[in-house]
Amino acid sequence: MAVTMEHSFPDDFLWGTATASYQIEGSTTVDGRGVSIWDTFSKTPGKVKNGDTGDIACDHFNRFPEDIALMHELGVKAYRFSIAWPRLFPAGNGVREERGFAFYERLINALIAAGIEPMVTLYHWDLPQALEDNGGWSNRSTAFAFADYAKACAEAFGDRVKNWITINEPWCVSWLGYSIGVHAPGRKDYRAAVAAAHHTSLAHGLATRAIKSIDQSAKVGITVNMTNYINENQEDESLKQVVDLLDGNLNRWWIDGVQCGKYPETLLEAYGDLVDGLIHEGDMDLVKCTNEFLGVNFYSDSFVRSARPEDKTFREGSYLPLDVRANTSIPERFSGKLTDIGWPVTPHGLKDLVLRIHRDWPEIRAINITENGCAINDEPDASGVVNDERRVSYLKSHLVALSEAIELGAPVKAYFAWSLLDNYEWAEGYSQRFGIVHVDYKTQKRTIKASGLEFKKIVAANSVIE
Ligand code: FCB
Repeated sequence: MAVTMEHSFPDDFLWGTATASYQIEGSTTVDGRGVSIWDTFSKTPGKVKNGDTGDIACDHFNRFPEDIALMHELGVKAYRFSIAWPRLFPAGNGVREERGFAFYERLINALIAAGIEPMVTLYHWDLPQALEDNGGWSNRSTAFAFADYAKACAEAFGDRVKNWITINEPWCVSWLGYSIGVHAPGRKDYRAAVAAAHHTSLAHGLATRAIKSIDQSAKVGITVNMTNYINENQEDESLKQVVDLLDGNLNRWWIDGVQCGKYPETLLEAYGDLVDGLIHEGDMDLVKCTNEFLGVNFYSDSFVRSARPEDKTFREGSYLPLDVRANTSIPERFSGKLTDIGWPVTPHGLKDLVLRIHRDWPEIRAINITENGCAINDEPDASGVVNDERRVSYLKSHLVALSEAIELGAPVKAYFAWSLLDNYEWAEGYSQRFGIVHVDYKTQKRTIKASGLEFKKIVAANSVIE
């Protein structure tokens, strides 16, 4: 007989859904919006699957009232969305576009009227192209431009928005955007990537202070994407060093920076002359700041095994400037069990990860899971129902793991399902569906999936049944 178990969440736990501007808004040339690096990148042949762009996406710019009604129907308490910087400042300088401010006014006011708390991400990857033309995140001045933009947002919306995420996944910004070049702006330059890793940290520190200079009560944090690097060959001594470097590069760089004002020593050493002249005197005091929460995006664990003869160093693989070798492919035991984007399902990893954060940075008082979800490309059946069982199971198993971590003392305060809607999945275009609500891109019809209905139940009960 199957035994069921109910896992409850704390009374004040915040349930929400998440999206990002370029992935859902569309209307990329409306009301004076400037060009972003994703407009440019997506229109560059060969960069995005099927040549898909965010020109229309989910047409959320026009349909946001319907999307808010959906969230209301799901019973979520909060909505994490991002502001497109080039809607407010088309050229990334001080010249404002009031119609862009007006759009987010409408959105924020409608959310509040529906009883849904806005949680705003200031940078979810749509940098004004004009700033990229000047070096983008590899140029120190972008950090200061970002702080000015953050301040303008706090001035305009700070009376209604109390929770701010500065930058989403600075690792992706730096390494996918400037090293391997699979995301905008598509550069392949280690020095630029290391510079971006520092300038995004600096931008966070500067923007946090800028927001608080307008509203002292604002809660500000950064959102990092994290994973557990599982060492599959513990007996291989040299693998420990690889795991440490990978962990430093992804998991520790920004948290150590913004919490402790330092970067991992082993990594600085491994980057060698790439960091020469990068970190100015006093920078680390600016990077370190008071963070009311840490935003964490978690999708799956990663696996590191001893190198095979055919494995190259990370540097040769044009990925990270590290002269170490390892095999990071997904182990055999996951075959047949991957999500549609090819990622393994490792719910226990979410528990391990938040407990690790609590152990390694005990001063962090609030961890918000700002994204968690999976790509499962189920379509409506003949009766129009989207029965995405694999997503239901992903969602429940991750929430069970999260509740266990909370019981063990991890200070997790919020969970945002990625994503409210199927949307533009960056270099994958529209080929990967992450939504708990299905979107028919031809008609823009929205259909709550089985996973959305399950999420609604979980939110209403404030618990998940195993
Ligand atoms: C994260 C991004 C988010 C979404 C998910 C699947 O890296 O922050 O926009 O694309 O992955």
